[in-house]
Amino acid sequence: MDRPEIAGLLADARIRTLLLISPLGAEDLQVQHSPLMSPIVWDLGHIAHFEELWLVQNIGPDPQGRQFGEIPGIYNPFENPRSVRGTMQLPTARETVDVMAGIRRKVLDHIDRVELGAADRLLRDGFVFHMVLQHEHQHQETVLQTLQLKQGAPYPAPRAWMVPEAPTHGAAGLDGMVRFDGGDVVIGTDDHPAAYDNERPAHTVRVDPFEIDVTPVTNAAFAAFVEDGGYRDRRLWSEEGWSWITEREVGAPMYWTRGSDGWTTRTMDREHPVAPDHPVCHVTWHEAAAYAEWAGKRLPSELEWETAATWDPSSGTKRVFPWGDAPATHLHANLDQLSFGTAPVGAYPLNVSPLGCHGMIGDVWEWTSSDFSPWPGYQTYPYAEYSEVFFGPDYKVLKGGSWATRPGAIRGSFRNWDYPIRRQIFSGFRCAR
Ligand code: AVJ
Ligand code: FE
Repeated sequence: MDRPEIAGLLADARIRTLLLISPLGAEDLQVQHSPLMSPIVWDLGHIAHFEELWLVQNIGPDPQGRQFGEIPGIYNPFENPRSVRGTMQLPTARETVDVMAGIRRKVLDHIDRVELGAADRLLRDGFVFHMVLQHEHQHQETVLQTLQLKQGAPYPAPRAWMVPEAPTHGAAGLDGMVRFDGGDVVIGTDDHPAAYDNERPAHTVRVDPFEIDVTPVTNAAFAAFVEDGGYRDRRLWSEEGWSWITEREVGAPMYWTRGSDGWTTRTMDREHPVAPDHPVCHVTWHEAAAYAEWAGKRLPSELEWETAATWDPSSGTKRVFPWGDAPATHLHANLDQLSFGTAPVGAYPLNVSPLGCHGMIGDVWEWTSSDFSPWPGYQTYPYAEYSEVFFGPDYKVLKGGSWATRPGAIRGSFRNWDYPIRRQIFSGFRCAR
């Protein structure tokens, strides 16, 4: 990456951040809308200080103050977990937006003095710039979760400014499962310039035969599980899943309400009927696992998911995306916050993998059965607080990105993770067998 490209991509990320928050008043930016999320001003300050740490302090000729960890102070996510961010004295949105602009000026100035072709591992293939860009993109998705959760004054999503919208028609007759006959598969990546440490290294795994759904589970299919008493059938649930739904009296995906005329849901400021042919969204890992049990199936492991999305058995090669290595655009998948919601399954004819799975990128993150753990040969780089501290049985892996994910922050090898009780994320699933 050269300087103009870096400056352009940084500007693109910032324009989107500011566009997303532009409909919000000072109060909505300052308060904590949910204990699960940060006040939006915290996300904003955190984005800026993360950028300053990596693109000013940690690269370039002056090694003073380099620190390969999270930023200290109020924007450190570990010193100040989300649950306490609502009680912190945070700078106002106006002040924070000024800080963001000030840091950005400093960064662009600093980059003029950095030898971009240096042998420095942070700079190689523009890695550190991809890292900072992805970080801002990821926090945009976090902010969208907050805005979806938010009660009170509606958030008039700036969807009309973000043409093109998602297609409104899916492909008929897409259902059933496809089969992988088993074999050696390459998982992870060595050479994607933006890959996080947790995606590395590429390694070959023997994957047993499996079947996997052609599309994500739709709202219609999930509603059938609800109508069939799925939430009341103890046998379908794990111990933890059962306590989670009974303690909270959960009986449907988050944001669903039963109207006289069927299920309705809310997307930001819009209340609308649940669309039968869209992927179900806002379910926990436990709800996904219970549905799979009800359907006589199970969740795919992460290895199976990545195989179905990226492996071409006929040539024995791995792809970056289901459609190949070409970057994701609005023609490929429902990504990039363009549509402010899901699209019908099969709406993107290019979004199909060699195995025949549709919609593995975009629309909804897909839960897998797997714990978030390091690939064999994993090495932390450049900081432990991104991946390493989250490895273990507490988190389940999600794959594929959602409608709220920016194209620069998704690929077949990309790994997301969360607690199995979370569903404010844009989460759905497909089943395997
Ligand atoms: C990868 C989405 C789990 O939000 O906790 C943002 C992304 N890491 N800043 C998170 C992240 C540091 C991360 N997830
Ligand atoms: Fe962060």
